[in-house]
Amino acid sequence: MVRARVSVGFAACIALVSMIASTLALAEQTSIKNLMGQNFAGLQTILVSLITSNYAQVPPQANAIHEHAMDLTRMVPADISGADRQDFLSYAYNLDGHARDMKSIAEVLIEHDQNRAQPGLGTDQLREALAAHYGGAVTMCVACHNRFRQKVIQ
Ligand code: HEC
Repeated sequence: MVRARVSVGFAACIALVSMIASTLALAEQTSIKNLMGQNFAGLQTILVSLITSNYAQVPPQANAIHEHAMDLTRMVPADISGADRQDFLSYAYNLDGHARDMKSIAEVLIEHDQNRAQPGLGTDQLREALAAHYGGAVTMCVACHNRFRQKVIQ
């Protein structure tokens, strides 16, 4: 019985190690894809928050996009070099700027909306600025994909 459990445990270890090895073998493209899928989900959540003026989900989702943008700056695909590499990086850093602005504006709005008696200093404009940064973020997704995604996929 004990021996059976030990060998099941051993087989599980082998399976885990081979999973990790095959994941590493797929290298950076798989991890870029994973990051991207999470970015996409984050954007959809942020859009719903913007439309309903209920911003609680924005800071965590924007923060995830910020972290993924920083990851992207460290994962430039090997076949992108020279000026193209700088462009790839600038799209990633621009995406990061929009994500961080979405987070900080949403935090101000959340605080304001919790205490509506407070004088609302330009909060309507802030809601629009938040939407503009959302648009800026989407523009960076599209810009980087148009230039670089095809090359990576080919
Ligand atoms: C700096 C470049 C860059 C930016 C900015 C970027 N992406 Fe990507 N994205 C890529 C690359 C490269 C791939 C291809 C990865 C692959 O095929 O392995 C990709 C692929 C994807 C995919 C498809 C995964 C698939 O099935 O091929 C989705 C979805 C995606 N990105 C969403 C987003 C979203 C949403 C944003 C903006 C919030 C974004 N990306 C911003 C570089 C970028």
